[in-house]
Amino acid sequence: MLDEIVELFAPVPEGTVLDATVGGAGHAEALLDRHRQLRVLGLDRDRAALEAAERRLVRFAGRYRLVHARFDRLAEVLAAQPPPFGGAGLVGALFDLGVSSPQLDRAERGFSYRFDAPLDMRMDTTQTRTAADVVNQSSEADLVHILRTYGDEPNARRIARAMVARRPLQRTGELVALLEDTIPAPARRRGGHPAKRTFQALRIEVNGELDVLAPALDAAVDALQPGGRIGVLSYHSGEDRIVKARFRHHETGGCTCPPQLGCRCGALRTVKLLWRGSHTASAAELAANPRSESARFRAATKLESR
Ligand SMILES: C[S@@+](CC[C@H](N)C(=O)[O-])C[C@H]1O[C@@H](n2cnc3c(N)ncnc32)[C@H](O)[C@@H]1O
Repeated sequence: MLDEIVELFAPVPEGTVLDATVGGAGHAEALLDRHRQLRVLGLDRDRAALEAAERRLVRFAGRYRLVHARFDRLAEVLAAQPPPFGGAGLVGALFDLGVSSPQLDRAERGFSYRFDAPLDMRMDTTQTRTAADVVNQSSEADLVHILRTYGDEPNARRIARAMVARRPLQRTGELVALLEDTIPAPARRRGGHPAKRTFQALRIEVNGELDVLAPALDAAVDALQPGGRIGVLSYHSGEDRIVKARFRHHETGGCTCPPQLGCRCGALRTVKLLWRGSHTASAAELAANPRSESARFRAATKLESR
């Protein structure tokens, strides 16, 4: 969805776009390359991602700044930036949620069921809680909740019971073997690799991915100048639900007055949605990048304050 992201920020005036999940800076590079009026403030909680971003963006020296931070700390990060990256409001904000390909492809990070490695899955390696801690220290009921809520795993109860019985589990390979033994054969033949949902669920739990999303979106909307734009790419129904709800909240100002009577509560609408619902990947994108199958893209523009 690179072209759509580049197009989203074409009409914004000169200023700073927040790339809240800069990763390897594929999006940031395209924005700096295609829009001469833009600077990028790139955040990531993963220091390895920031090193890759630095290498990719070096030719745009002076037009970008990279900060090691979780995106829900946006207000604090903005306050600490010297001009021109701090101070004035943002002209744009981009969130490309979830895990990156380099995180999945580096075996030692423990995100992938394709390699045997320590059960880690921390995006920020300065954090202490790992996937092994989640698997080995959570109650069976909490594991069921994690697998169902973050992985939509239909065999959550069976898997959680097996995890508790086989503890301690320290390696991704041990977890994959457990899943292969535990998930019934017909279910194993459906819906991709049998470990996919469990690995996604553990990753979301380890990194508290859904907990930090709503406050981060609110802070980004707050920081936008009137006319500034926000775009969010999500890959999981739980993420997209939060994005949709926060966009709706900012679109209505939280107003719950019956539509036929008009708004009488004085709610302040802060954004206008650029389209209803979410955009999904085109057939060409799906062919080039299978991960885009679950991508949902939503966007809004900040309104003038009254
Ligand atoms: C899908 S990748 C982004 C890829 C990027 N758009 C690019 O073009 O290369 C998501 C990135 O967001 C980071 N991330 C996830 N949650 C975060 C959070 N709460 N705060 C900061 N960074 C986060 C991950 O570490 C990862 O590098």
